[in-house]
Amino acid sequence: MAKLDKNFLWGGALAANQFEGGYNQGGKGLSVHDVMTAGEHGKAREITETIEDDKFYPNHDGIDFYNRYKEDIALFGEMGLKCLRTSIAWTRIFPNGDETEPNEEGLQFYDNIIDELLKYNIEPVLTLSHFEMPLHLAREYGGFRNRKVVDYFVRFAETVFNRYKDKVKYWMTFNEINNQMDTSNPIFLWTNSGVTLAEDEDPEEVLYQVAHNELIASALAVSKGKEINPDFIIGNMISHVPIYPYSCNPNDIMEAEIANRLRFFFPDVQVRGYYPGYALKMFEKNGYDIKWQEGDDEILKNGTVEYIAFSYYMSTVVKHDEVTSVEDNVVNGGLPNSVKNPYIKESQWGWAIDPVGLRYTLNVLYNRYQLPLFIVENGFGTTDEFKEDGTIDDQERIDYLREHIKASIQAVDEDGVDLMGYTPWGIIDIVSFTTGEMKKRYGLIHVDRDNEGNGTLKRTKKNSFYWFNNVIKTNGEEL
Ligand code: BG6
Repeated sequence: MAKLDKNFLWGGALAANQFEGGYNQGGKGLSVHDVMTAGEHGKAREITETIEDDKFYPNHDGIDFYNRYKEDIALFGEMGLKCLRTSIAWTRIFPNGDETEPNEEGLQFYDNIIDELLKYNIEPVLTLSHFEMPLHLAREYGGFRNRKVVDYFVRFAETVFNRYKDKVKYWMTFNEINNQMDTSNPIFLWTNSGVTLAEDEDPEEVLYQVAHNELIASALAVSKGKEINPDFIIGNMISHVPIYPYSCNPNDIMEAEIANRLRFFFPDVQVRGYYPGYALKMFEKNGYDIKWQEGDDEILKNGTVEYIAFSYYMSTVVKHDEVTSVEDNVVNGGLPNSVKNPYIKESQWGWAIDPVGLRYTLNVLYNRYQLPLFIVENGFGTTDEFKEDGTIDDQERIDYLREHIKASIQAVDEDGVDLMGYTPWGIIDIVSFTTGEMKKRYGLIHVDRDNEGNGTLKRTKKNSFYWFNNVIKTNGEEL
């Protein structure tokens, strides 16, 4: 018997801000990403006040999908993708975010993309917001600190739900909504919620107010979506970096249990429709005054998600009594007591390579929530070399993907997890989120562009392209 369902959604994952480019084309407004410079491993990206002439903003051009989408989607079709997970840039539809009427040219652009995908039988899977808040909403309203922004988000969601209701079935609300729990790296609060912190503010209290507003926005979008088309399947999207205890010392176990709340706070609310006890207790103990409006309980209860989409790249470890510098641990989720896992190798960017952690994650999420799961990001960011014959032998990437797919199949076939699909991150090379680099490549298709924005943008299929094509054809039987 085949291990995976015949309708398993094999695909690829992307985000508008990282690959579309065309940042000022088609009436698009500036987004929070359009003022982020390029950084590198160990050097954070800068968020500038406005666009400065002497700085390089890699998301402005992305890989120019905006102008080359036909060529790229034809390649996705050739690879055999059954779905493409991408996002709708909020700023193409509402350039400033607070307009009353949408930008028709932006809506038309996504009509073209969706139609082109459907031409190749590729199911669109759309994220409403993948770090793409209009800059105007961040600067003038304070992003999701401000409850008004919830209304603007819901207007945006309603607009695109209505427009694409007969063409798109799978949606998710906010990309990696929980990654902003890591307040040690300011880009997360900025990109997720359009929020910057004042020096005298308690980041945690701000975060939970922002989180509440965003959870309300997500729940309202789910309810609206289901009203517009009851056949929509709407999920949330979280980043899952499991936190292991360093040892069987009960203190390490408890440390990990508590730290994992950072991962689960958002999905606990989005799936169950109410706040978990550990969060309410923490608000009470810390004296946090999180502003609720009348009716919020109902909104959360009525807007629960139907599946959980998540990204998985790595795992991390915490040790009780260990104090490490946050800077050392930015990659590990900024935990002040995270330590390296002695059993696991890391990528060039310090990301721990742990396929078993994916099977573990699938079990943990399924056992906690009993909802279908969808792996919408997983992949290996590394540099690529052309061989003399013009091909790219990216065996390391193939090995990474193979081991993670194997682990996912085990979770389905041996552990009984309900898994909807698997979409490797950055199916074509795109701009890295955390560093803004091009050389941290995830793609199965190479794009000729470097960290400084030079290159012809030519697309070249890597060996992984052919390998993945066969994985899809055999529904994961041949890895
Ligand atoms: C996730 C994001 O955090 O990880 C993506 O949803 C991102 O936007 C991906 O690109 C990989 O991170 P990076 O920094 O290697 O691009």
